[in-house]
Amino acid sequence: MRILIAGGAGFIGAYLCERLVLQGHTVICVDSLYTGTTENIAQLIPHPRFTFIKHDVVNHFDRDKFDKIDQIYNLACPASLVHYQKDPVKTIETNVIGTKNLLELALHHQARFLLTSTSEVYGDPEQHPQSEEYWGNVNTMGPRACYDEGKRCAEALAYAYHIYHGVDIRVARLFNTYGPGMQKDDGRVVSNFIVQLLSNAPVKLYGDGRQTRCFCYVDDMIEGLLGLMSSHCTTPVNLGSDNEISVVELAQLISDVLNKELAITYLPALIDDPKERRPDLSKCQRILGWEAKTSLRVGLANTAAYFKAKLETQELLSVV
Ligand SMILES: NC(=O)c1ccc[n+]([C@@H]2O[C@H](COP(=O)([O-])OP(=O)(O)OC[C@H]3O[C@@H](n4cnc5c(N)ncnc54)[C@H](O)[C@@H]3O)[C@@H](O)[C@H]2O)c1
Repeated sequence: MRILIAGGAGFIGAYLCERLVLQGHTVICVDSLYTGTTENIAQLIPHPRFTFIKHDVVNHFDRDKFDKIDQIYNLACPASLVHYQKDPVKTIETNVIGTKNLLELALHHQARFLLTSTSEVYGDPEQHPQSEEYWGNVNTMGPRACYDEGKRCAEALAYAYHIYHGVDIRVARLFNTYGPGMQKDDGRVVSNFIVQLLSNAPVKLYGDGRQTRCFCYVDDMIEGLLGLMSSHCTTPVNLGSDNEISVVELAQLISDVLNKELAITYLPALIDDPKERRPDLSKCQRILGWEAKTSLRVGLANTAAYFKAKLETQELLSVV
């Protein structure tokens, strides 16, 4: 198949590109490099079945420039708080105009379209755990609104193209995903804690640390995305782990994995930061027969090893 991956040079996108090329597909990676890097896809660039196109999805696609496309994955959107809040208007445009442009491309090519939406569509949830039927509790005027409402609108657009134009859509609601390949400075909690502990610095913890999250290892998430794309399900599906852990417990676990002493600096809670978050995964288990398999300890050890190697190389380079 010929598969277009928007946002393919990002953290999750690069894994997806690699996996689909390995499966024998032809992959077209479209990315503006807003938060992604060509380093993430460097090993794929010489591959004859891989093409990288630097393009901002907000800009018009020349639809006829592409040979027939069978599937489109839309991952294009900065996922970390630091990056999506940097230019909130751009984040909304990427989610709304970018998703519309990709849906138009899907319509033109009669391609199946998968949107990577997010648990953030549930906002600061009043239902726990969050099932796909829950409509969410999102502040339209807060600092997270550009991302949360942007994704909600992207879902609404996918639904509209499905109902009115017959586009074959899939909507994945991803919960926190982590693993090797995350950037060290993009403000995600797992990478923050690992880098702070490796640097022998105190862990910076926003709020009292009792807020909960569930963390899914990236390899598991890729299986979930591939499974959903191959399924017949056109309604939203939660993908993630339901192993709930408080942020302070996460800091403790990472310090154990790294065998580093834990010191914590408590900072004021972030505005609209969800207090608890855990997916109800019964739908994806029923429909896809999928569940995250990697234990948090193993996933964190792999991720920590990645950052350790990366930081050591950078330290070496800074000495040279
Ligand atoms: N990682 C998570 O925990 C998580 C959780 C929920 C949802 N998601 C969603 O999954 C997707 C991938 O997340 P990620 O963690 O790999 O994030 P990422 O920031 O590493 O990757 C996003 C990619 O999209 C590209 N991009 C951003 N704006 C673009 C634009 N206007 N045009 C073209 N390319 C653009 C970036 O350059 C980057 O390569 C995102 O849509 C994100 O919202 C991720």
